[in-house]
Amino acid sequence: MSGPSSIIICLMLSMWTVLVPASSHPQHSQCKLTQRAALCNNSNLTSVPEGLPRTTEELQLHHNLIRTLHDNSLRYPSLTTLSLACNHVELLHANAFQYCKFLTSLNLANNHLYMSYPETSNALKTLPRIKILDLSENTLDEEMAAVLLENLTSLEYLNLSGNLLRRLDETSFRDLRRVKELDLQRNLLFEIDNAFDATPGLQRLNLAFNYLPCLTDFHMTQLVVLNASHNFIEWFISRQDVNVTFQIETLDLSDNKLLFFPFLPNASRLRNLYLSHNTVSFYEHLADDAAFPNLTATITFYNLRRNNTILTATLWDDSLHGDVSSLEILDLRGNQLQYFPRGFIRQMPSLSRLRMCSNCLERLNLTSEQFSGSLCELDVSNNRLKEIAADDVTLRALGNLTDLNVSLNDLDCLSSGLLFNLPSLRSADFSYNNIGICLPEEVEAGAGVAWNATASLRRLFLKGCHLERLPRSAFSGLSLTHLELSDNPGLRGQQSIKSLSATLHHLGLGNTHVGDLDFAAFPNLKSLNISRNSIARLPASVASLDLKQLDLRDNKLSSIPSAQADKLASKLHTVFLTGNPFNCCQTEWFRTFTTTKTVHMVGQSDIECTDLYQTRSIRDYPSFFCHEETGESIFWYILLFVPVCISLVGILMIVFLTVKPKVIHKSIKKKYFKPTSY
Ligand SMILES: *[C@@H]1O[C@H](CO)[C@@H](O)[C@H](O)[C@H]1NC(C)=O
Ligand SMILES: *[C@@H]1O[C@H](CO)[C@@H](O)[C@H](O)[C@H]1NC(C)=O
Ligand SMILES: *[C@@H]1O[C@H](CO)[C@@H](O)[C@H](O)[C@H]1NC(C)=O
Ligand SMILES: *[C@@H]1O[C@H](CO)[C@@H](O)[C@H](O)[C@H]1NC(C)=O
Ligand SMILES: *[C@@H]1O[C@H](CO)[C@@H](O)[C@H](O)[C@H]1NC(C)=O
Ligand SMILES: *[C@@H]1O[C@H](CO)[C@@H](O)[C@H](O)[C@H]1NC(C)=O
Ligand SMILES: *[C@@H]1O[C@H](CO)[C@@H](O)[C@H](O)[C@H]1NC(C)=O
Ligand SMILES: *[C@@H]1O[C@H](CO)[C@@H](O)[C@H](O)[C@H]1NC(C)=O
Ligand SMILES: *[C@@H]1O[C@H](CO)[C@@H](O)[C@H](O)[C@H]1NC(C)=O
Ligand SMILES: *[C@@H]1O[C@H](CO)[C@@H](O)[C@H](O)[C@H]1NC(C)=O
Ligand SMILES: *[C@@H]1O[C@H](CO)[C@@H](O)[C@H](O)[C@H]1NC(C)=O
Ligand SMILES: *[C@@H]1O[C@H](CO)[C@@H](O)[C@H](O)[C@H]1NC(C)=O
Repeated sequence: MSGPSSIIICLMLSMWTVLVPASSHPQHSQCKLTQRAALCNNSNLTSVPEGLPRTTEELQLHHNLIRTLHDNSLRYPSLTTLSLACNHVELLHANAFQYCKFLTSLNLANNHLYMSYPETSNALKTLPRIKILDLSENTLDEEMAAVLLENLTSLEYLNLSGNLLRRLDETSFRDLRRVKELDLQRNLLFEIDNAFDATPGLQRLNLAFNYLPCLTDFHMTQLVVLNASHNFIEWFISRQDVNVTFQIETLDLSDNKLLFFPFLPNASRLRNLYLSHNTVSFYEHLADDAAFPNLTATITFYNLRRNNTILTATLWDDSLHGDVSSLEILDLRGNQLQYFPRGFIRQMPSLSRLRMCSNCLERLNLTSEQFSGSLCELDVSNNRLKEIAADDVTLRALGNLTDLNVSLNDLDCLSSGLLFNLPSLRSADFSYNNIGICLPEEVEAGAGVAWNATASLRRLFLKGCHLERLPRSAFSGLSLTHLELSDNPGLRGQQSIKSLSATLHHLGLGNTHVGDLDFAAFPNLKSLNISRNSIARLPASVASLDLKQLDLRDNKLSSIPSAQADKLASKLHTVFLTGNPFNCCQTEWFRTFTTTKTVHMVGQSDIECTDLYQTRSIRDYPSFFCHEETGESIFWYILLFVPVCISLVGILMIVFLTVKPKVIHKSIKKKYFKPTSY
């Protein structure tokens, strides 16, 4: 027989194939070697691998189990980049880097450096060329950090995020003269006192997610990006007596507690100002009020340590502090602005994106504000606007405006020019206003609704606008790709959408009591929303479309015919099906969708079906209860079948016993009167 010998040959062969690649790099099979790099991530290493090529320049050891770097651990003289992130490093011995004088980048993120930081600090001091150092997530407090950073004069990038720093002063970064980028986010900082006077070249500073109560006396003129989001900042005040242009371009103060617009530098290059989610407002209307005659009018900020005044500001006048002339993005989402002070917008001739969503604006006059011609995005959604005033000349001057969002306001009637005279408008969102009231009148006046005047328009959102009837020619001349008409219950005149049949990609008709629209007329449709429409039977034309996304929530569907499900599953990426009274015994479509890996059924566990007893998650319904083709439950057959069987067996037993009782006696005797062995 050849059996055993062939098994042995197989074994030897498989051992050979296992051994060969390992023996060609015998010392460090865990590492993948490329030209100059050794990549040893996720290998359970407890020490730096030995015997790698001496020319190795980069060594990646993320996610291993290394605790210590000994004096002889690193014998790679060409090493420039060492990554030890996510190990258990507690200690670097003082001479750990004695052979690596060219190391410029060292990543020690997510280790335990707090345990032996004085000795580790001595090791870092021996790196004359170190430029990039990551010490994030090492449970370091400010004293440990100061010790670790001693004498690191060559450092240009430092990451200290995710540690336990609480306050910083002039000693904290004393030696970091060359540092350009400093990441201090996610610490416990509540005080910063002249800590950056020693770092004149600092360009990017991240202070996000700390506990800073204010930033006063800001005078870092070289800084380009400051991120102080997610703190508790009430005041941002720049030093006013500095006679140079601040280099700041991006200032992020979002998610703080600002009450006033920040006091920006007198002269700056500020382009991006993020102030979302504060409580910024303007207060002149309070000062005017005779009701508060003795309201404190000015506020003065002192620096107690330096015994001087930083700034005296008149609070209630709206004159802006600082230079906003270079501003391009102004993000004021989620504040309390009721109006723009006189000349506020005019001071920003380069403004291209204004985000004012979720404020308290009550009026907006585009003409008097004098928006810049470079404006391309205007979002004033979710305010209290009753009217947006603008004359035709102003609107035509807004030649770059492509995105307009005025949704969620109290607009009664759109100033007709808003749509017809914005020459570049591509996306317009009027959802959740009362504009529907205007439409019938215009229609009756014979004017038609000339949406078509803006030939550039591609995306039009008219959700919840109380629209009642679309005129026949409502969209003629337009080339919309997106049209949202959801939440206009009982909307009539849906045939007018057909004029968009060649271009439409997304059509929203949720909660419109959509009738018998023939979707076959829209061959390019990729996304269709017909949720909340009491649809009991999926229109056949839907399955013939090349849809990627389909929303069928909250209808009256009991099933989806197999043929349609097959067609849909082959194309769909996302489908919404919750809120339909599906029949548990007609769920072939469900299996089609679940077995097609490319289809994502949103909220799959919330899709329910009903059998005769109860409603439950369609996923949990045992399919053997149902007989698919007829749609009737096998459960009932079983229920009927079981008692019949039992009674048949019972009858047979009785008959058997009464007719042949002796047989039983004999068999009992046979079994129990066997001779025993003892
Ligand atoms: C090693 O892990 C780090 C951090 O997770 C990652 O940036 C790097 O690309 C990984 N290297 C390899 C070769 O997977
Ligand atoms: C590392 O160790 C863990 C647990 O002991 C094991 O599951 C994993 O496969 C090991 N990884 C490697 C690359 O050896
Ligand atoms: C470190 O810096 C201190 C002054 O900050 C200096 O006295 C000391 O000599 C430096 N040590 C090294 C090793 O450069
Ligand atoms: C600093 O480290 C944290 C955590 O390791 C990381 O999320 C962050 O991106 C790093 N910062 C920079 C600027 O690379
Ligand atoms: C500021 O930092 C936060 C947190 O890391 C980040 O989400 C945000 O995008 C940053 N801001 C800017 C302008 O980069
Ligand atoms: C600012 O500096 C310039 C010259 O550098 C000078 O002419 C001007 O008077 C200074 N302004 C103030 C307010 O000090
Ligand atoms: C900065 O602006 C304030 C108020 O506008 C002014 O009083 C001050 O002289 C300006 N400072 C400089 C240095 O220009
Ligand atoms: C307000 O100030 C006036 C004088 O300026 C003074 O007579 C009056 O008593 C003050 N009122 C209050 C309520 O302090
Ligand atoms: C602060 O300056 C004032 C005068 O400008 C002086 O009277 C006071 O003593 C100084 N305080 C301190 C703590 O230096
Ligand atoms: C809007 O501002 C212009 C110019 O200041 C003014 O003529 C017009 O009456 C204003 N419109 C409204 C409705 O206030
Ligand atoms: C639109 O922006 C470009 C630069 O982005 C500018 O040259 C052009 O003048 C702007 N159009 C108008 C009408 O201001
Ligand atoms: C817009 O539609 C109306 C009515 O169909 C038509 O009279 C008008 O010429 C169209 N305008 C443009 C610019 O296409």
